[in-house]
Amino acid sequence: VAGVVERIAAPKPGQDPESLRKQQVAYEAQAAKLRAQLEALEHADLSNRIVLEPIELDDSLSDHVSTQKLVEAAKERITGLAPFDPATFVPRIVQDTASPYAGGEACVGCHREQHAQWSTTGHARAWQGLVQDNRALDGDCWSCHVTGGGAEGGPTHPADSGGYRDVQCEACHGPGRAHMAAPEDKALIVRDPPQETCVRCHDGDKDGGRFDFGAYRPKVVHTAATPGPATPGPATP
Ligand code: HEC
Ligand code: HEC
Ligand code: HEC
Ligand code: HEC
Repeated sequence: VAGVVERIAAPKPGQDPESLRKQQVAYEAQAAKLRAQLEALEHADLSNRIVLEPIELDDSLSDHVSTQKLVEAAKERITGLAPFDPATFVPRIVQDTASPYAGGEACVGCHREQHAQWSTTGHARAWQGLVQDNRALDGDCWSCHVTGGGAEGGPTHPADSGGYRDVQCEACHGPGRAHMAAPEDKALIVRDPPQETCVRCHDGDKDGGRFDFGAYRPKVVHTAATPGPATPGPATP
């Protein structure tokens, strides 16, 4: 047995210690589960067996009313702790000049038409939805309702979301600070965001499975003269 253990423990040349550590954690979890099963078998009375099974709390189970009230009160208190009023705080320029994101307001001067059209879309109201649901500071929501949420160089905490709120220009076109400094360099900004960009947020789950690139794209392009998709969506019958 010692020989076997040594052979497993000896790392392969070039093996990453982090991956070994992950394996160890996985093995330990598996071993704990097997030990628990073994113990259960030793005390087995199969006529009186209990099977534990996780059940997802979906809409088919109604909320516990008084617990729900406590949850709502807690959310309101958390929102109240923020150093700003989430309902009225709407500056759109990212003040942190170290961030590659400039904020949508910074694009307006040079792209007035695009900004005007964008303002009519749901993307311009994505933050407001969180405020209405009392979830403005909920990390589970902001990755899709806050520009650059969870992305490199984006805001690192919901309370720092100031200039990043809503699904702004840079959620689709990529960070734009470098582009603003050198607009003629086409490599610095994405002209036509492909479907992969959309489905980071329109992921088929949080969006209720409504996304259809062919139908949704025309609603976000800014001018009637904008050409058709460079990356076609799934064929529609
Ligand atoms: C100082 C003016 C200026 C600012 C500010 C500016 N842009 Fe531009 N942008 C331009 C110009 C000029 C072009 C056209 C370049 C060309 O066709 O040579 C352009 C082109 C673009 C394009 C199309 C690129 C292509 O390949 O055709 C996108 C997308 C874009 N800008 C997004 C943004 C976003 C997002 C912001 C805000 C973060 C922004 N721009 C801020 C001047 C600006
Ligand atoms: C994975 C990305 C993602 C996350 C995370 C996410 N949302 Fe959304 N949300 C979307 C998309 C995409 C839509 C637009 C769906 C459509 O209309 O097709 C949306 C729509 C909404 C709307 C508009 C009304 C509606 O139901 O269509 C509200 C309000 C909303 N989300 C609140 C939340 C809250 C609260 C959370 C956190 C608990 C959250 N979202 C987390 C992507 C996300
Ligand atoms: C939901 C994604 C999305 C958002 C958000 C978005 N755009 Fe676009 N943008 C597009 C698509 C798609 C095109 C079409 C590209 C094409 O056909 O070449 C485009 C094209 C452009 C172009 C090229 C010229 C044109 O009108 O076709 C500019 C400039 C531009 N966007 C600027 C902006 C600015 C500024 C904002 C914010 C006010 C913004 N975009 C927000 C998706 C988006
Ligand atoms: C950063 C996340 C994010 C990205 C990227 C994104 N969206 Fe969205 N989109 C949302 C959210 C959130 C909403 C819901 C806003 C609301 O109403 O609260 C939404 C709403 C929409 C709506 C309005 C749906 C309706 O009928 O009300 C359309 C259309 C749409 N998105 C198209 C697109 C397309 C096309 C792309 C890619 C080019 C894209 N989106 C990229 C997050 C995103």
